[in-house]
This record gives sequence, C-alpha cells and structure tokens, in this order.
Amino acid sequence: MRVGFIGFGEVASTLARGLMGEGVEVYTCLEGRSVRTKELARSMDVQLCSNNQEMAKKAEMIFSAVTPSQAVLVARELDHIQGVYVDLNNVSPATVKEALKNVGSSDTVDAAILGSVQRNGLKVKIIASGAGAEEFEKLNGYGMNIEVIGSEPGQASAIKMLRSAYTKGVSALLLESLHAAYRMGIDEEVLKYISQTEGPDFKESAVSRMTSSFYHARRRSEEMEEVVKMLSALTEPFMSKATLESLVALADKLGKLDKRPANMHQLFQKLDKPDHQG
Ligand SMILES: NC(=O)c1ccc[n+]([C@@H]2O[C@H](COP(=O)([O-])OP(=O)(O)OC[C@H]3O[C@@H](n4cnc5c(N)ncnc54)[C@H](OP(=O)(O)O)[C@@H]3O)[C@@H](O)[C@H]2O)c1
Repeated sequence: MRVGFIGFGEVASTLARGLMGEGVEVYTCLEGRSVRTKELARSMDVQLCSNNQEMAKKAEMIFSAVTPSQAVLVARELDHIQGVYVDLNNVSPATVKEALKNVGSSDTVDAAILGSVQRNGLKVKIIASGAGAEEFEKLNGYGMNIEVIGSEPGQASAIKMLRSAYTKGVSALLLESLHAAYRMGIDEEVLKYISQTEGPDFKESAVSRMTSSFYHARRRSEEMEEVVKMLSALTEPFMSKATLESLVALADKLGKLDKRPANMHQLFQKLDKPDHQG
C-alpha cells in the first residue's frame, strides 16, 4: 500500500509513523513548508516528492491533513489523480463538499477524526462518508480504526462539527475558569472539586484539552469558524461564537509556539507572559 500526505503536521506524522510500522510506503511533499514540518518529515523515513501532483501519481491514497483554511486550496491543485482522495480536515460539510468537488477523482472521502491523534495514534477513531469510503476502510487492515457511516460527502463532517461545538466549548470554558483560579492560587483545588462531579479521569482530560487548545489555538480557531458557519445555517450559535472569539484572542496573543507546555502551570505562566512579549 502507498499513501501520500498533503501537509505533514501532527495528524500526518502520527498516522504516517503508524502506517509505516505496518509496512505502508509513505510519501509527502515539502515544497514551501515550514522548518517544523520539514524536520518532522525528515526525522522519519518518508519518501519525498517535488509536488503534490507527482505524489498523486505514486500513491494509491492521498490524505489531506493541512489546516482547515487550506482544504479547498490544496484539493484544487489535484486536477487528476488515480487513487482515493481523503479529506481529514476539520471543516464544515459545505467546505468538504467544495474541496472534494475540485479533486480530479470520483473516489473521494469525507473523513472526520474523532479524538486526539496524539493520544490514540493510528488507532484514533475516524468516521467516513463518500464514494471512496469503503476503499478507505481497507486501511483497517493496516491498523487504522475507520468506520464508514454513509455514502454522501458531508455526513461525517456534520457529526464532527457538532461534536466540536461541544468539545471546543468545554475546553474554552476550562481555560477561562482555571486561568482565573491559577491567578488566585486555587487551580488545583478547583480541579479537585470539579473532578468530584465529573469523575476520576477528569483532571487528566481537562489538562490535555487545555494544553491542546493552547498549542493549536490558531488551527482550532479555523475549525471553530467552520463550526459557526455550519451552525449559523441551523440555529443561533451564541456559545460557539464566544468559543471562536476566545480561540482567536488566544492565537493572537501567543503567536506560533514551538512546543506544548508540559503541565498546567507552565501553560498559565506562558499565557501570562508570552515569549514575544519578552
Ligand atoms: N491534531 C488532531 O488531533 C486533529 C484531530 C482532528 C482533526 N484534525 C484536522 O487535521 C488537519 C491537520 O491537523 P494537524 O494537527 O496535523 O495540524 P498541524 O500540526 O498544524 O499541521 C498542518 C500541516 O499542514 C501543512 N500545510 C498548511 N498549509 C498547507 C498547504 N497549503 N499545502 C500543504 N501543506 C500545508 C502545514 O505545513 P507548515 O508547517 O508549513 O504550515 C503542516 O505540515 C486539520 O485540518 C485539523 O483540523 C486534527
């Protein structure tokens, strides 16, 4: 099996590492990419192509794992591909349909990752819909955890968007309330008492959620834009608009981060004194 990745960040490198362990050949293209992406790809035995079109000729499956704002743009670059095109980005049903319509292949897949790739690795749950979904599901034979939920593009991303409204909203609330608690010196106590309501695993998942929102604030703000876009057509999204606003403010404040904070205190220290503010 040969799989090509457009974008080589957290999702691509994690899935690539797992797939390579199962004997899959992995390709990507580093033209125009950042130092972080180049270092990630070069630290693994990934085969490099000079552009995405060349990669599409070699790979049986192409995964798009860029940032939400780039999903349509990168799909447009591929006017002819032989294999299956899988869009893994967190985008609204309207955006994924637009992206897949632009790919020169009829075997396209709307795929939605449910959960943290960092924590679950290759076994992270992925739901999929679209004409190529059953072909994509064959990667379960290489250790993936894909479930086909329908034949139409937009079905998987709709579920993902509604789930995101909840998970990102909760993460934003946690960051806000625990940051205030940290400044008052009572963050551990607040976490302890919420855990008594939410259950024993709450602390670990709360810290993981806050750290991910913090580290990926820019990308998550793009994802929330997609959520708000979808919800606005169906209801009045007061809460999701506030989550979007808080993620944009966080991303503007922090700039691009090199690494995740190791714990909650490091996170709040950084929030109170971002690097670029000296
Ligand atoms: N991380 C998760 O757990 C998770 C879960 C569910 C869904 N997702 C979705 O999966 C996608 C990827 O997420 P991620 O966590 O891997 O993000 P990430 O770590 O920020 O990586 C994004 C990658 O895309 C590259 N990229 C950006 N624009 C590009 C373009 N025009 N052409 C080619 N490559 C481009 C980036 O390169 P540069 O470094 O050069 O910018 C980087 O390598 C996102 O759409 C996200 O919504 C992620």
